[in-house]
Amino acid sequence: MGHRIGATYTNPMKSCDLSLRAHFARTFIGVVITFPLLIIFAFGAPESNSALLDSGKKLVSDVKCEACHASKRGGDGSSMYSRQDRRVTTIRQLSTQVGRCNNELNLGLFPDDEAAIAAYLNAKHYKFKD
Ligand code: HEC
Repeated sequence: MGHRIGATYTNPMKSCDLSLRAHFARTFIGVVITFPLLIIFAFGAPESNSALLDSGKKLVSDVKCEACHASKRGGDGSSMYSRQDRRVTTIRQLSTQVGRCNNELNLGLFPDDEAAIAAYLNAKHYKFKD
C-alpha cells in the first residue's frame, strides 16, 4: 500500500518536471518568435498602409468603379469624387458609400476590400482627416 502511494507520487513529479521544462522551452521560443514580429508590425505599419492603398487601387480598377462613374460624369470618372454637390464629406460617409455601391451593384466585395477601396479613394481624392 505504502509502496504504491510512493510510486504514484513520484511519477507525477517526474512528468511535472518534464512538462515544466517543455513549458519554459515553449515560452522561450514564443518570445524569440513573437518579439521580432512585434517589431516588424510596429515599424512596418506605413508599408502595410501603402499595401492597403495598392490593393484599393487595384480593386477600383478590377471592379470598374470608374467606368460607370465615367459614363455618368464623363472624363475618367474621377470627377464623381470632386463634384460640387458630392455626397461624401467624411471618412465615415466614404466607407458607407463604398459599401452602398458594393451592395446595390452586387459587386461581391468583402469588408476588407471595401476598407482598402475607401482608404485608396481618401488618399487619392478626398483627403479627409476624419
Ligand atoms: C453602375 C454604376 C456604378 C458603379 C459600378 C459604381 N458606382 Fe459609385 N456611384 C455611382 C453613381 C450614379 C453615384 C452618384 C450617386 C449619387 O449621387 O446619389 C456614385 C457615387 C459614388 C461615390 C460618392 C461620390 C461623392 O463624393 O458624391 C463613391 C465614393 C463611389 N460611388 C464609389 C464607388 C466605388 C468604390 C465603386 C466600385 C467598387 C463604385 N462606386 C462603383 C455609380 C456607380
